[in-house]
Amino acid sequence: MRRIVIDCDPGIDDALAITLAHGSPELEILGITTVGGNVSLEKTTANALKLREFLGFPEVPVVPGSPGALLRSRVDAADVHGDSGLGDTRLPPATLPPSDGHAVDFIIETLAAHPGEVTLVGIGPLTNVALAVRKEPRVTEWAREFVILGGSYTRGNFTPAAEFNIAADPEAAAIVFTAGWTVTMIGLDVSRSALATGAVVDRMRAMGRLGADLLVPCAEFYGMVTADDGPAVHDVCAIAYLIDPTLIEIQPAVVEVETVGRFTSGMTVVDFDLGDRAPNALVGTSIDVPRFWELTLSAYDQVARQCEGVVALESCQEAVVEGR
Ligand code: RIB
Ligand code: CA
Repeated sequence: MRRIVIDCDPGIDDALAITLAHGSPELEILGITTVGGNVSLEKTTANALKLREFLGFPEVPVVPGSPGALLRSRVDAADVHGDSGLGDTRLPPATLPPSDGHAVDFIIETLAAHPGEVTLVGIGPLTNVALAVRKEPRVTEWAREFVILGGSYTRGNFTPAAEFNIAADPEAAAIVFTAGWTVTMIGLDVSRSALATGAVVDRMRAMGRLGADLLVPCAEFYGMVTADDGPAVHDVCAIAYLIDPTLIEIQPAVVEVETVGRFTSGMTVVDFDLGDRAPNALVGTSIDVPRFWELTLSAYDQVARQCEGVVALESCQEAVVEGR
């Protein structure tokens, strides 16, 4: 069992990643922290709150964090994720509020309480994580592992040079990559292969309420902005790696973050040729796509059964109340 804290900016692929994490018996979600990214912090937090109730884990804390980057003005990806951040999904509104306190303190306190046991997963801009390691540098020792969906050693997606999560807050990423821990970087070089093709979406269509209300509308909305034969479900790859690290080939590297370049700001400069340098990252280079989807879709299937179970229970309860 791997205990995790997910720092995220839901976000369509964040939602698909959280669903995978919830559906995997190998993972226990200790908390979800939110950051401004794909859409505003208010919306990423609202989406996380809706997701935890829709998916059925209302007891897991959702803790809001930084609204934007350390130094730069906010950018977003509403053109990709929609104004709401979850495309045109219509999940029931959340009935429970976020936790008090700040994401940075939640990350510090959770890792401090379970030294060496909790994996921190960053699937949004790294502002919260950067502030956490600045406020309490021991976070880098307490974390069992720190895994991100972010960066690229080929080309970006927000600019030709930079991937969105890094480009949204390059200074935060630079802090994170020089904090002394080894960052497991699952970048676009891996996640661009994880496409929700027509065959994948057809499997999702057969997943009842989960498919109809979340998975399919997310994949279809996300797919409207891609020329490939389906959208790349980037964040899901980071969670899949935690469940089965053999899915993704990783190599040690020295990663530096460009924070000055006029055209290259947010670029992750990845050097696999270490020389006599110690690596600061393990960088994903390839993914076993068939096994990735088999793992992901079977976890979604588990969540779908739970969702149907809840619906069945609710309709039974209604029947009892109405005396049917
Ligand atoms: O580049 C992909 C990343 O940017 C994903 O985390 C997606 O949610 C967006 O935040
Ligand atoms: Ca994200």
